[in-house]
Amino acid sequence: MSDRAGGEAAGGEAALTDSDVAVFGTSGWLSLQQATTPDELDWLGGIYDELFESQTGSGAGEFFDLAGVPGGAGPQLLPQIMDPQLKVPELGGTRFYDTARLVAARLLGVAGDDLAHFSHMILKPARYGHETPWHQDEAYWDPYFDHDGVSVWMPLEDASVESGCMRFIPGSHLGPVRPHRHIHDDPQVHGLVTDDVDERQAVACPLPAGGISVHHSRMVHYAGPNRTDRPRRAYIHVFSVPPRRRAAPYARPWLDMRRFEPPGASREAAE
Ligand code: NI
Repeated sequence: MSDRAGGEAAGGEAALTDSDVAVFGTSGWLSLQQATTPDELDWLGGIYDELFESQTGSGAGEFFDLAGVPGGAGPQLLPQIMDPQLKVPELGGTRFYDTARLVAARLLGVAGDDLAHFSHMILKPARYGHETPWHQDEAYWDPYFDHDGVSVWMPLEDASVESGCMRFIPGSHLGPVRPHRHIHDDPQVHGLVTDDVDERQAVACPLPAGGISVHHSRMVHYAGPNRTDRPRRAYIHVFSVPPRRRAAPYARPWLDMRRFEPPGASREAAE
């Protein structure tokens, strides 16, 4: 149903055509206008706000500031919650989750039951929410494995260029993971950035509340700062084909290799 690269897949929910799948293969992203219901969106908004207000999981490192230094002073710049369904199991039974999994299974060519999954919520507070700088998701991932995944990104309110909607470099997922560095060149900051981007090629993807953009794990992407008076609440499901172990790791010097386990090493040896 798409008539342009990385374009809108019509039909709602997970009604992807062969053409949509082919376009995704070429451009590395697509969008759907509706992935959930208004009622579910309201319910999700309440859960989302409660989780951020209580900073659930901060003791276990599940809540942290992507763009700040751990324990740093001042407001949270880009607060994130990892795997919120561990705290609220009902989040694993939503229309949004089902739609995201169906779309991911179709795009990755794998049965939904075989997909690995995690999720996160990234909040951009009104007026001062930090940009999410250009990066590829795979730059964060275990370099001892080959990965093939998609991120399904849903805003809980309309996402515009001004509020920090997603921007993509179409086709960039077909290349390698580009060199990355930590935000502000500070290894204590979790967030990564790549400088190897031609922004003239960027395509913005504004979305209505409850719409989704879907991008490949090697897609070069960005989301701007939030310059509006409303928070920009995003909820992301990430699905991937089970990772395949490599004979040698990718060279990703920005990663702390102590976090990852080399082939053949026991857990004890790695610690
Ligand atoms: Ni990302």
